[in-house]
Amino acid sequence: MSKSLISINDFSRDELLHILSVAREMEETGSSKLLDGKVVACLFFEPSTRTRLSFETAAKRLGAKVIGFSDVANTSISKGETLKDTIKMVSNYVDIIVMRHPLEGAARYASEICDIPVVNAGDGANQHPSQTLLDLYTILQTQGRLERVAVNMVGDLKYGRTVHSLLQALSHFDPEFIFTAPEALRMPAEYKTFLEKRGIPFLETDSLMEHLCDCDILYMTRVQQERFSDPMEYEKFKDVYRLERSMLAGVRENMKILHPLPRVGEIAEDVDNTPYAYYFKQAQNGMYVRMAIIACLLGYR
Ligand code: CP
Repeated sequence: MSKSLISINDFSRDELLHILSVAREMEETGSSKLLDGKVVACLFFEPSTRTRLSFETAAKRLGAKVIGFSDVANTSISKGETLKDTIKMVSNYVDIIVMRHPLEGAARYASEICDIPVVNAGDGANQHPSQTLLDLYTILQTQGRLERVAVNMVGDLKYGRTVHSLLQALSHFDPEFIFTAPEALRMPAEYKTFLEKRGIPFLETDSLMEHLCDCDILYMTRVQQERFSDPMEYEKFKDVYRLERSMLAGVRENMKILHPLPRVGEIAEDVDNTPYAYYFKQAQNGMYVRMAIIACLLGYR
């Protein structure tokens, strides 16, 4: 297995399935002392609630200690220290680094300049592979399979890194995709080419209602405000979709609504109590999956 988790494409189908099976073990076993004596660094150069706190919880539930920061203003980066020097320093203190950074490729760069495993907890609009593993885990949990699942990805498919990683991971399992997005936020061409080369079917629409009843997984996403250079452009698109309970009549019985969270306005709260809403359980799964990721990268599973 690859030493670091940078891109979901670095992992084979078997390696992905192995991590999912370890995550299942972690969910069943709960806390342990597996990583007693180890130290995990969580370096967040961008805001996060779920990813940071679930990685920290995962490490602690396995008996490891955690160091790190969630605000670069309190670090020497604010004095001009480079990413390179920061990573080199921290890698001398800990056994594994989990990092989120606004620049695409930052986690790959970090993994190349230090000798310990690095986990990409999100790099710009590029990849969010630990989110993808928890999404796969949740799809398996709710559908009983990963093969031949119909996934409708909705919202900001241009800047949303979670949909980019998920699409690539699911390509191992004969999926079909619906991409629901306004013209300006459509799935980038490179990802559509990726699917075409593998013969994976997809269709595109800008209508949320058009294919709501044609999917097993409705994967809602937020419009990524932080990736827009023009605030007026964000204002134009921020409320483009809003899923409401009344819109769910006729959806597949097995359909589950996922969302990497945070949500802003794209899922109304009246959806939360329907049998289709699964996003909070999905976020909980992140803890088990991140326990598995740390254990696997450190060679314990
Ligand atoms: N899903 C996700 O990455 O959430 P956070 O930004 O809160 O970590």
